[in-house]
Amino acid sequence: MKQIFAAVFVIIIIISLIVAAFTLTQVQQEDQGLKKGLEQRSILLAESLKETVQPNFINKSDQQLQNLVDKFEDKQRLAGMAIYDNKGGTIATSSSLITQVLKTKKIAEDAMDADTANGDFVELNNGKMYLLAIPLHDEKSVVGALMIAQDAGYIDTRLNEIWRSNLLGLFIQASLISITILFIIRWLIIEPMRNLVKFLKSTRAEDLEENSPSLLTNFFFRPLVKEISSIRRKLIKARFAATEEAKLGLEKLNSTWTEQRLKVFIKDVLKDRTIFMVSNREPYIHTKKGRNINYYIPASGMVTAIEPIMEACGGMWIAQGSGDADKLTVDEEDKLRVPPDEPKYTLKRVWLSEKEKAGYYYGFSNEGLWPLCHIAYTRPTFRKEDWEEYKNVNGKFAQNILNEIKDYERPIVLIQDFQLALVPKMIKNSRPDASVGIFWHIPWPNSESFSVCPWKKEIIDGMLGADLVGFQTQQHCNNFIETVSREIESLLDFEQLTITRNGHTSCIKPFPISIAFPNRFKNKDDKFNSMKFLKSLNIKTKYIGVGVDRLDYTKGILERLKAIEIFLKRYPAYVGNFTFIQIAAPSRSKIKEYQRFTEAVEKEVERVNNLFRKNGWKPIILFKRHHTQEEISRFYKLANVCLVTSLHDGMNLVAKEFVAARNDEKGVLILSQFTGSSRELKDALIINPYNGEQTADAIKVALELSPLEQTKRMKKLREVIKNYNVYRWSAEILKTITNL
Ligand code: F6P
Repeated sequence: MKQIFAAVFVIIIIISLIVAAFTLTQVQQEDQGLKKGLEQRSILLAESLKETVQPNFINKSDQQLQNLVDKFEDKQRLAGMAIYDNKGGTIATSSSLITQVLKTKKIAEDAMDADTANGDFVELNNGKMYLLAIPLHDEKSVVGALMIAQDAGYIDTRLNEIWRSNLLGLFIQASLISITILFIIRWLIIEPMRNLVKFLKSTRAEDLEENSPSLLTNFFFRPLVKEISSIRRKLIKARFAATEEAKLGLEKLNSTWTEQRLKVFIKDVLKDRTIFMVSNREPYIHTKKGRNINYYIPASGMVTAIEPIMEACGGMWIAQGSGDADKLTVDEEDKLRVPPDEPKYTLKRVWLSEKEKAGYYYGFSNEGLWPLCHIAYTRPTFRKEDWEEYKNVNGKFAQNILNEIKDYERPIVLIQDFQLALVPKMIKNSRPDASVGIFWHIPWPNSESFSVCPWKKEIIDGMLGADLVGFQTQQHCNNFIETVSREIESLLDFEQLTITRNGHTSCIKPFPISIAFPNRFKNKDDKFNSMKFLKSLNIKTKYIGVGVDRLDYTKGILERLKAIEIFLKRYPAYVGNFTFIQIAAPSRSKIKEYQRFTEAVEKEVERVNNLFRKNGWKPIILFKRHHTQEEISRFYKLANVCLVTSLHDGMNLVAKEFVAARNDEKGVLILSQFTGSSRELKDALIINPYNGEQTADAIKVALELSPLEQTKRMKKLREVIKNYNVYRWSAEILKTITNL
C-alpha cells in the first residue's frame, strides 16, 4: 500500500508541476496584454490632454494649468496628472501626486530628453500606477512635460485571480485523479491479487477438491491464471500419486519417510485423532522492531525436530508465549495459526508471570534439572520456592491442555522435555482416554546422580502418568528404569520394558530424535556460492571449521577452543590457513552460570586469538547472536570440518543438521562420544571432548582427509539420517502410543 501512495504522490507532483508551468505562462501572457492595453490607452489619453495643456503652458497660465490638473484628477483610471517645466520643476500637480512628484519626475525628464513619450510601472503610496510622460513643445523646442498616472492595480488583482482559480482547479483535479487511481488499482490489481493469493494458499493447504475460492479475475491476469490452474491440476495428480504410494509403504517402517507419508499415516492409522503437542519453548517468537512486528525461530533442538512434524500433522502446539510481541499476535483465545507465512497448525500460547518464569524455568528447570541430568560437572541448585513454581506452572500447562482437549475423543497428547515432567499424570488423571506421551530430550543420568534431587519421587511419579516415556538412547531408558526401581514402588517388566504403578502401565522406549531430511533449504541452497560468502565475511583462509551451539556449558565450547589452540601449536603449518567460526546463540542469559560461561567463552576466544594472530588473520571468529536456520545452513556448507564437542548431550541435532546440509557429500564431522547422535553417526570422527590432544589430532585428520574418503563417510552419514528422519521418529512414537 505504501508504494501505491508513493506512486499517487509522484503523479500529483508531476501534475502540479505541469499546472504551475501552464499557469505561469498564462499569467505572463495576461500580464503583457493588460500592460500593453494600459500603455496604449495612456498614450491616447495623454495626447488628447496635451491638446488642452500645451496652449496654456505656452501662455504661462499656471493657474489655468492647476485648474486643469485638478479637473482631471481621479477620473476613471486617471489617478492624477503633473506638469513639469523643462528644468524638471513642477508647475502643477494633482493632490494625490504632490508628495510623489519628486520620485516620478525622472520619467518626465527622460521623456523631455528623448523628446518622446516615456512610461513606466511604479509602486506609489496609493498602489501600483502606470506613469506616462509626453513632452510639451512651443514652436521651436521642448518646453516641458505632461505626466499622467493611471491606476494599474487591477493587473495584479487579475493575475492573482488566475493563480487562485488554477490552484483550486489543480486541487480538485489531483483529488479526483488520486481517487480514480486508487480505485483502479484496487479493482484491477489488488482484488485479483488477493483472490489469486487465496487460491494459491488453498492449493498449498491441500484444499484442492473442495472449498477452493473461485478464481474470478480480469483480463490482465488471465494468462497467469491459466498457468496457475494448470500447475494446480498437476499438483492434484502428484499429491494423489504420492498418497497412494505412501499408503503402500505404510507398513514398512524402514522405507523412507516423508512429510506426505506421515500425513497419510496420521489419516489412515490414527483415523484423524488430533495431536496436541506441548512444550515450554514455542516454535515462533514474535518481537517488536520499531513499529513492526517480526518473528524468529528459537535456537532449540526440540523445536527443530518437532516443527516439521506439526507442519505435516496439523493439530495444536501449546507452549509458553515468550516474545515481547506475542500477546499482540494472538486471538482472544491466545491462539494463532503458524507458520506465520504458511499456516498449517495452531499455536496456543500460555502466559507466565515473571515470578513463575524465575522459579519454574530459570530456577528448577535450568538450575536444577538441567545440570542434574547433564554430567557436565556443574552443580545443580534446588530451591523449595523454585519447586513450588515448577509444580504451579506444570499445573497451569495441564489446565490449558485439558481445556483444549475437552471436545476431542481419545486425543493424543505429546509432552516435550524436562520442563513439564509433572504434566503427564495431571492429564491422565482427568482424561484416562487420552493417549499421553512424554519425550525426554536431554540425558537421564544414572540413578545415583539423580537421587540427589529432593523431589525425585514426584518427578518420576509425574512422568509415569504417561502411557509412553521416550528417551534418546537405550542407556537413558536403562538409567530411568533403574532410578524408578530405586526410588518408588512399582512393577517392572524388563522384557516388555514397562513400568506399572497404581494400576497404570507406562512403556519406556528409546526414540533417537532426528531432523527433517532432505534439508528444507535445499532449493535456495543450490544458488549458494561459498567463495562469495567467505569474501563477505572477510575470511581468506583455505580451511574452515564451524561450531554451532547455544551458549551453554554442556556444549564443550571451552574444550573446543582449547583443542584449537593445541591443534595450531602441534601443527603450525595451519597457522594463518585455518579459521574456526563459532556461531553462539545467547541462551538463558538471566542465569548467573550462563553469564559466567559466556564471559569465559569470550575471554578464551580472545586469549587463543592473541596467541596466534598475524597479518590481519586470527584463528577464531565468534558470532554471538541468534542466526536463522537458513543462515546456519550456509556456514555448514562452507566448512571443511564441523566440531560438535558436547560434554554430555541427549542427542545434539547440530551434528545431524550439518550432515543434512552437505548435499555436496563433502566435509567432515567431529563428534563427541557423549552425545546421543554418536550412537548413530558412526562415520564421524568420534572424540572425547575432555581430551584436547585427541580433538586437535581429529581436526588435522579431518582437514587432510581425501575428497574420496570424505564423500564415502558423508554418504553413509546421510544414509543414516535419510533412513531415520524426524517423520519416521514421530511415526514410531505415534504407532507405539496408539498400539499400547
Ligand atoms: O533440547 C533441550 C532443550 O532444553 C529444549 O527443551 C529447549 O527448547 C532447548 O534445549 C533450548 O533451551 P531453552 O528452550 O531453554 O532455550
